[in-house]
Amino acid sequence: SEADKTYLSNSIREIEDFQKPGIKFKDITTLLGDAKAFHLLMDHLVERYENREIDYIAGIESRGFIFGSALAARLRTRFVPIRKPGKLPYTTISEKYSLEYGVDAVSIHIDAFTGAGKAKPKVLLIDDLIATGGTATAAVNLINKAGAECIEACFVINLTFLQGDLDIKKTTSVYSVLEVF
Ligand code: PRP
Ligand code: MG
Repeated sequence: SEADKTYLSNSIREIEDFQKPGIKFKDITTLLGDAKAFHLLMDHLVERYENREIDYIAGIESRGFIFGSALAARLRTRFVPIRKPGKLPYTTISEKYSLEYGVDAVSIHIDAFTGAGKAKPKVLLIDDLIATGGTATAAVNLINKAGAECIEACFVINLTFLQGDLDIKKTTSVYSVLEVF
């Protein structure tokens, strides 16, 4: 409901000038520390996805791990971590993306999506927030490279004024619980 969305939205703390001047940082620790807010969010996501065919939930390090693994457990499905480079111990594949200054990358185990025993397993991608969309777009490309199909990219917060979802919408559908204009 609208009241629930307002409650959820108000549970997220804004920190001015973190980590750079002019940035209003969305602090989700206050959402996680509010049992009602966390539960409202998870119930909403369960309702949206419980009747979809989802073989894996992939979460982006690190805040995407929190919501993604909680949702995977609720949906009784599998969880795959998409990690920052150099963290995963087995053979990995990586995807680079550009930052304001320089380049970063996300990586995944090469066999991450083999456990479901399907040719093209269906993956729901989760992260807490989409800003420029660089991280999530690279993550979708990585899921495809790893032989799976990203059926949707889901975010708790979309900073819509950055239009970070424009690129990613070319390859998958995008859902965000809260939109910031
Ligand atoms: C933040 C956020 C998203 C990403 C969004 O993560 O949690 O993952 O940035 O930015 P983009 O859309 O411009 O790519 P961050 O790199 O701060 O790391 P964290 O999740 O480990 O805190
Ligand atoms: Mg993150």
